[in-house]
Amino acid sequence: MDYQHIIDNISKEILSTSSRGEVASYIPELSNVSPDKFGIHLTTLSGNDFSYGDNLDRFSIQSISKVLTLTLAFKLKGTSMWTRLGVEPSGNPFNSLVQLEYENGIPRNPLINSGALVISDILITELENPKKDFLEFVRSISGNSSISYNQKIAESENKHGHRNAALVNLMKSFENINNNVDEVLDFYYHQCSLEMNCKELAHIFLLYANRGISPYTGKELISASKAKRINAIMQTCGFYDQSGDFTFKVGLPGKSGVGGGIGAVNPGVYSIAVWSPPLNKKGNSVRGINFLEQLTTDTQSSIF
Ligand code: DON
Repeated sequence: MDYQHIIDNISKEILSTSSRGEVASYIPELSNVSPDKFGIHLTTLSGNDFSYGDNLDRFSIQSISKVLTLTLAFKLKGTSMWTRLGVEPSGNPFNSLVQLEYENGIPRNPLINSGALVISDILITELENPKKDFLEFVRSISGNSSISYNQKIAESENKHGHRNAALVNLMKSFENINNNVDEVLDFYYHQCSLEMNCKELAHIFLLYANRGISPYTGKELISASKAKRINAIMQTCGFYDQSGDFTFKVGLPGKSGVGGGIGAVNPGVYSIAVWSPPLNKKGNSVRGINFLEQLTTDTQSSIF
């Protein structure tokens, strides 16, 4: 498969069209990013890398981090954590409050904000130094000790995160949060502020294409059964109320973030990270989704 040729052609086509959405501005610090940034990195299990554009510029991975916190919590807690959150698509925006009220403080899934906040709570209980230990976990998956939080982004979100504060307080009232709400929010804002480039993100995501085993060290980072379930959750819930549309158009397990990044995998074959900051109304990268739709069409690599 000539991935480089296909990536080059699709990228040029996507960049020549003007429709692309708006850069997120509800976290002021995120709005400083150029809307013209565009990066692609595809890495195969057979060890080949293909890229385009700004694939080495670091960006805020935002909600893509929810896959990484889910991975660590699932590894530490196993199936017992599913009493506190579900695995159903929510059909609602990522920061919605309504469903949580009538479903008694049990989030639909770990990839919406309420679910990620429960996962933060679990990690705070399980880890000795939560922010430090989680960062070490991410660095160990990537084999890259320079990956870090962006304090400015974490602080900017903390100042404007009224909906997340509402979500965590509502869940606390239903006794589904055990730790101090400010500590939970602080952890959550830090995980969202993690920065990496498309190459680093694609390399991290390769573990989900490889049944939980690091292709670089041969070490099992998470069991094959858990990797399978994380992919299933990404497939059904990774794009909030656009998850069905993403499955329909792209057909890969994946996760988006409001920084404009998307990580996706074709199990057994490749992982890919795309980055283009302007978003649609659902909070997902417009050019990122368009790129992936064309990629899985041209390479016939939808999993369906
Ligand atoms: O909670 C928030 O609002 C953000 N830090 C993360 C949201 C996000 O990335 C949603 N993704 N599309």
